[in-house]
This record gives sequence, structure tokens and C-alpha cells, in this order.
Amino acid sequence: MMSYHIAVIASLVWQIAAEYADKPCAARAVANRSVLCVCTTDYCDTVIRETPTTASYYTYVSSEAGLRFKKSSGELQSAADGSVSNNSLEIDPSTTYQTIEGFGGAVTDAASITWKNLTDATLMQHLIDSYCGDSGIQYNLLRVPIGGADFSTRPYAYNELPENDITLSNFTLAPEDYDYKIPMIQACQKVSSARIDVIGSTWSPPPWMKTNNNFTGYSRLKKEYLQAYADYHYKFIEHYAAAGVPVWGITTTNEPLDATLDYININNLGWTIDYMGEWIANNLGPTLRNSTFKDVKIIAGDDQSYTVPLYWNSLVSRYPDTLPYLDGVAVHFYMNQYVPLSLLTQSMVEYPDKFVISTEACAGAQVTDTISVDLGSWPRAELYFNDIIQNLKNNVIGWIDWNMALNTEGGPNWLKSSVDAPVIINAEAGEFYKQPMFYAMGHFSKFVPRNSKRIKMNETTNTNIQTLAFLTPENTIVVVIYNSGASDTVKIRLGGKEAALSIEAKSFTTFEMLKE
Ligand SMILES: *[C@@H]1O[C@H](CO)[C@@H](O)[C@H](O)[C@H]1NC(C)=O
Ligand SMILES: *[C@@H]1O[C@H](CO)[C@@H](O)[C@H](O)[C@H]1NC(C)=O
Ligand SMILES: *[C@@H]1O[C@H](CO)[C@@H](O)[C@H](O)[C@H]1NC(C)=O
Ligand SMILES: *[C@@H]1O[C@H](CO)[C@@H](O)[C@H](O)[C@H]1NC(C)=O
Ligand SMILES: *[C@@H]1O[C@H](CO)[C@@H](O)[C@H](O)[C@H]1NC(C)=O
Ligand SMILES: *[C@@H]1O[C@H](CO)[C@@H](O)[C@H](O)[C@H]1NC(C)=O
Ligand SMILES: *[C@@H]1O[C@H](CO)[C@@H](O)[C@H](O)[C@H]1NC(C)=O
Repeated sequence: MMSYHIAVIASLVWQIAAEYADKPCAARAVANRSVLCVCTTDYCDTVIRETPTTASYYTYVSSEAGLRFKKSSGELQSAADGSVSNNSLEIDPSTTYQTIEGFGGAVTDAASITWKNLTDATLMQHLIDSYCGDSGIQYNLLRVPIGGADFSTRPYAYNELPENDITLSNFTLAPEDYDYKIPMIQACQKVSSARIDVIGSTWSPPPWMKTNNNFTGYSRLKKEYLQAYADYHYKFIEHYAAAGVPVWGITTTNEPLDATLDYININNLGWTIDYMGEWIANNLGPTLRNSTFKDVKIIAGDDQSYTVPLYWNSLVSRYPDTLPYLDGVAVHFYMNQYVPLSLLTQSMVEYPDKFVISTEACAGAQVTDTISVDLGSWPRAELYFNDIIQNLKNNVIGWIDWNMALNTEGGPNWLKSSVDAPVIINAEAGEFYKQPMFYAMGHFSKFVPRNSKRIKMNETTNTNIQTLAFLTPENTIVVVIYNSGASDTVKIRLGGKEAALSIEAKSFTTFEMLKE
């Protein structure tokens, strides 16, 4: 009898331990690259965020050499006075900066079509758990195109017919919304322990609203459809809410500069700041704020970071009536290697109650990129990690990746243009690959939850090491460390306690301890 009980208890303990133990990355080597983590129906790696105690801290490390969220714990030591050196990172939680809104990716048609192309329900669920579940990287922000984008299998908008239909009498969502995007968003919502905030962005309105009557190319909105284009956004929000997806924010059109220059031929709509200023002040702002959806954030910009002086500063100074309607400005990543992001801090000095959020980034999109999908690339993970650090140092409140998943060709894309993604889906082989970029995202998204505050901490004198510190709503301190060089050591210090960490070469580290 006794042995029976022991066996039952042992099996329960084993089950609990098994439930909470991380499943390590099923690493696949790639020649001259870092590793891929392979997920199949039978196996997919997981990571649990542990709760630190007063005496101990946790670290999670990913590296070019092949570590992926390698978890360790250590004991905090009492910090000897006067032993402060170049590698002591002293945390000052009383000096706080921006409050974090979150991290996430885009549920494009391409992402959701390739997700469903996995067909096996268990494997599809692994992808959702990996991104949104507590055993995954816990995304809490999703961006969704309003209608089609370049990463769709066809160009489309809502209410394409009848033409010149100013009342949008035939507005319905598309099959892509019902079959792919909404199911993927709802699958994420279902497993997420945080609220998933959804941001919608239009690439192109129906062609009849545009001067060129086309999805691509140089265009403006026709003057007579300013109100119809505002109503178009209202109706999108209404239809998504009715389908069970509340919309948290909308941007005022994706990359409005593209269609003023006529060189990036994707679905788009060109806006001058004068025209856009009038639209926000007279149409979009009043339409949303007078509606059931008055709390939906209205976010200007949604173009490259260097356009903030144009689509924010010039816009709001020339059209001050837009300011009460606008909650913030959105930026994209593609030109950040040429423009120091201190531009964001400088541009927003006079607008302390307005936020900056990064709404799009991907690797493989530059003219200098020779391949779109680069399986196992560590430099691409570093591109993400470094950009997130530079953005957050300049008060950005959230960072949203582009396509959450793509196929092995980096598509589908109706214009046959392809890029990379943190998850690459090989439907034929019945597997998907978590790229190093996936872990770069996770070192922030999993450990820096919504309403964390960035706090002050010393910088190291090792220029290969960059760091950020946060105070989370759970009263823990999270430190994120990027090492682009050789291995080194750092000491993290707070309130007379310190943790001595060895930092792997070419690595990302997330450290977490209790504040007190
Ligand atoms: C190995 O990969 C790195 C980074 O992607 C690249 O710079 C280097 O040229 C590659 N070397 C070879 C031999 O392919
Ligand atoms: C309404 O839109 C659908 C496509 O969503 C289209 O097939 C139909 O012809 C449109 N109705 C009218 C009256 O234009
Ligand atoms: C739309 O633009 C594309 C690309 O410039 C062009 O090939 C196509 O003919 C245009 N369609 C219309 C209806 O003008
Ligand atoms: C609501 O609509 C009225 C009439 O169009 C307008 O005067 C007012 O400014 C709007 N309110 C807001 C908060 O935009
Ligand atoms: C879906 O998977 C099949 C193989 O199972 C592949 O041939 C096809 O290209 C995939 N579709 C997309 C859109 O990736
Ligand atoms: C580190 O930060 C602490 C607290 O802000 C400060 O007192 C100290 O001077 C800093 N040390 C260095 C070396 O910058
Ligand atoms: C600290 O200084 C030593 C000697 O200059 C240097 O080798 C080491 O990389 C530095 N470490 C950090 C974390 O700055």
C-alpha cells in the first residue's frame, strides 16, 4: 500500500517537473551559420520564465555558438564597498524612463497562410504557443494589415465594388480575414496571459478612392473621399470587434512617403503632410473620437524613422488641431543604420504625453541583401537586437516585427518580393524553424512585460557590450545584455547586492532578480 502511494506521489512529482522543465532547442546545424531550432508535431522547444527569490537570480542566454535561452540561476552576493569597476552595472530604479507597451509581430496574409499551410493542428499550435504562450516568447502586440499588403497572395481592399461608393455600402471583410488572419490572432489571444493589443494599418484603400485608380504607384486620395477613407477605418475596427478582435490602435496609413516618390511599387497611398493634416483634423479624428471606438489609439507616421520630423513635427506644428487626436507616432526600421535614433528623442522633447512605437522591421529587405531567407543567420538576430536596444534607449514603447512567419522562399508575396522572418515554415517537411531572430525578440518580449519601466543603469566601458534595465510590474529587475564581441564579465549591482555574470561571446543575455 505504502509503495503504491509513493509511486503515485513520485509520478505526480515527475509530471509537475516535466511540465515545468524547459524543452531545449532541437538544434539543426547550418553550414557557416548559427543553429536553427526545429519544431515538428512531436517536439518544439519551450522556455518558462522563472520567479527569482530574494537570494537568487536567473539568467537566460542565447549565442552564436548555439545556446538558446539557456537557463541558469545564481546566488546574489553582498557587494563589497569600493569594489566598483568598469564592469559594475549599478542599477538606479528610482530613475525611470518610458513605460513599455510591448513586443510582437505582424499577422500578415503571408504569415497566417503559411501557418495554416502546416495543416497539422498540433504543429500549428506549437507555433502559436511559441509566440504567444507562457512557454513561448509571450508576444502581446500584433499588427494586422487593413485589407491586403505586399505580403498577400493578391492585391485587394475592402469595398472595391461598387466604385465611388461614398457610403461604403458593401463593406465586408475579406476571406483572408476570416480564414487566416482572425483565426491566427484569436489563437494567440487564447493562449496569451496578457492582453494582446492589435494595431491595424492600411496599405492601400480601394483603388477608386485614389487618383491613379490602382493599388501601386504614385497616388493621392481623391479629395471627395477624405471622409470615406476615415469611415473605411471606422468600419474595419467595427468589423474586427464584431469578429472578436478588439483593435487597440490604427496608424494613419503604412509608409505614406512611398507613393509620393513612386519608386517602391507595393500597395500604398501617398500623403503630403498638408493633406494628411486636414484628414486627421477634419475626418479621421472626429469620426473615431465621436464613436464607440473613441479610445482606439491614432498613430501618425508609420514610415521610416527619419520621416518623424515630417510626419510628426511638421504635421502637428502646421495642423495643431491634429494633436488632440493623435496618441503617438510609429516608426519603421529600414533606414536606421543610416540615421541615429537620437532623432526620435529630439523630435519628441516637446511632446512628453505622446509615444513613439516601432511598427515594422525585417531582415533581407535591403538592396544589399543577396538572399531573402538566411537560415541560421546570427548577424540578422543581432540586427534585430541592436535595433530594439537603440529604439528603447530613445524612449520607444514597443517594437513590432514584420511577418511572424514565411515559407522557405520568404513569401508568399503577390509582387514576388521576399524577405526573412523569425519563423520559417517548411510545410512539405511538416516542420518549422525558429531562426536566431526569434530568440532575439524573445529576450525582450518574454521578460519585459507590458507596463515595465525602463530604468537607469551604468554602461560598461566595453564598447561591444550594450545593456538596458527595466523594472517590471512583478517588482523584478530585468537586465538585457548584448555582447557583439568576445566573452567578458559584468557585475550587476543593486542595493548592496551584486551578481557576477560571465557573458558569452556573441550572445544575448536576459537577467532577472527581485527588486527587494
Ligand atoms: C560565413 O558567414 C558570415 C556571416 O554570415 C560571412 O560574413 C562569411 O563570409 C561566411 N564565410 C563563408 C566562408 O561563407
Ligand atoms: C460587393 O462586394 C463583393 C466582394 O466582396 C462583390 O462580389 C459584389 O459584386 C459587390 N456588390 C456590389 C453591388 O458591387
Ligand atoms: C497598376 O499599376 C501596375 C504597375 O505599375 C500596372 O502594371 C497596371 O497596369 C496598373 N493597373 C491599372 C488598372 O492602371
Ligand atoms: C464630434 O463631431 C462634431 C460634429 O461633427 C465635431 O464638431 C466634434 O469636434 C467631434 N468631437 C470630437 C471629439 O472630435
Ligand atoms: C504550402 O505547402 C506546400 C507543400 O506542402 C507548398 O508546395 C506550398 O508552396 C505552400 N504554400 C505556401 C503559400 O507557402
Ligand atoms: C553608476 O551608477 C551609479 C548610480 O546611478 C552612480 O552613482 C555611479 O557614479 C555610476 N558609476 C559609473 C562608473 O558611471
Ligand atoms: C573592463 O576593463 C578591462 C581592462 O580595460 C577590459 O579588458 C574589460 O573588457 C572591461 N570590461 C567591461 C565589461 O567593460
